Amino acid sequence: GRTQFPKSQSAAEDAEELSHECKELLLSLPKERGWRTPHIYLYQGFWCQPKEIQAITNFQHHFQARDTDLILATMPKAGTTWLKAMAFAILNRKPIPVSTTHPLHTSNPHDLVPFLEYKLYANNNFPDLSKLPQPRLFATHVPFASLPESITKSNSRVVYMCRNPLDAFASSWHFLMKARPESLGPISIEEGFQMYCKGSMAFGPFWKHMLGYWKESIERPHKVLFLKYEDTKEDIIFQLKRLAKFLGVPFSLEEERKGVIEEIARLCSFENLKNLEVNQSGKSIGYFENKDLFRKGVVGDWVNLLTPLMAKQLVQVMEEKLEGSDLSF
Ligand code: A3P
Repeated sequence: GRTQFPKSQSAAEDAEELSHECKELLLSLPKERGWRTPHIYLYQGFWCQPKEIQAITNFQHHFQARDTDLILATMPKAGTTWLKAMAFAILNRKPIPVSTTHPLHTSNPHDLVPFLEYKLYANNNFPDLSKLPQPRLFATHVPFASLPESITKSNSRVVYMCRNPLDAFASSWHFLMKARPESLGPISIEEGFQMYCKGSMAFGPFWKHMLGYWKESIERPHKVLFLKYEDTKEDIIFQLKRLAKFLGVPFSLEEERKGVIEEIARLCSFENLKNLEVNQSGKSIGYFENKDLFRKGVVGDWVNLLTPLMAKQLVQVMEEKLEGSDLSF
C-alpha cells in the first residue's frame, strides 16, 4: 500500500518555494515516501519531487524546440554525465581541437549541457533560449511520453542512454545516501530497494522510462538513438561513431586516421573527468557535489551491494516488465 502521511504535516514540508498552481496540482496527485524530500508524487505516470514537477510543467508549457535541437535523455545515474561529455566533445571538436584547451577541462559536463528541468526551468525560471547558438544541446530526465510536443513532433533528435537496472540501482543508492537530508531520518537499503523494484524512484518506474525511449528508437530510428552504458564501456570507439553520425557530424576518414575518436574517448573517460580539478569540487546540479558524480564508473559493481536474493528479485522484475520488448541486459 501507499505510505500516507497527514496532509498538514507533509504539505508544509513539501511546499516550500512552490507556485500556487504547483501546490494545487500536488494536492491531486498520489504520493509516496521520497528519498531526498518527504514525498514524491506520481505526475503523468512517473514519480517526481515537488520542485521537479514545477520545473517540468514549466518546461512542458514554455520550451519551444527547433528542428536542429539535440536532446540527451537518461534516467538518473544511467551515465548522464558521460553522455553529456561525449556529445559536447563530438559537436565541439572543430572549433576547439580536443588536444588543446577544451571546455571539458575547465567545466563540469552539466555546466556545458544544461538540464531542461534541473537547471533551465528550475526555480520558476523562464529562460530565453532563442539566442543560443545552433544546434542547441540540452538534457532531460523526463520520460519520452511527457516531453513537450515541440520536441516529439519537430525534427529535433533525442539520444537516450540506458543502464542495467542492477547497476543503476547501486549507483543511485550510493549517490542518494550522500544527498539524503538528515532531517528525513535513515532509509534502509531493503526499503530503498523495494521502492526501486516497485518503480517509485525519481522518474521511475525504470521499465516505463526505458521502454518509452526504446520503442521510439525502433519506430523512429532517425528520431531517437538508444545507447547502453554497458555497450559504450565495451566499445567506446564504435559507440562514439554511432553518436557522431546520429548527431549529424560523422567522423571523416581523415579524423579517424588522425585518432580524433580516441582523443575524444580519452577526454570523456571516467579517469580523466574524475581527476580534473573542476570535477573534484563545486556544485553544478543543485546541491549535489560534483565529486559525487564520479564514483567507480564500472559495469557490474552491484555485486558489492545487492544480496543474491535481491538481485534475483530485481532480475525477475526486469524480465516481467521488459518481456516481449527485445530490450535486455
Ligand atoms: P557509479 O555510481 O556506478 O560509479 P549520472 O551521470 O547519470 O549521474 O551517472 C553516474 C554514474 O556514471 C556513476 O556510476 C558514475 O561513476 C558514472 N560515470 C560518471 N562519469 C563517467 C564516465 N566519464 N565514464 C563512465 N562512467 C561515468
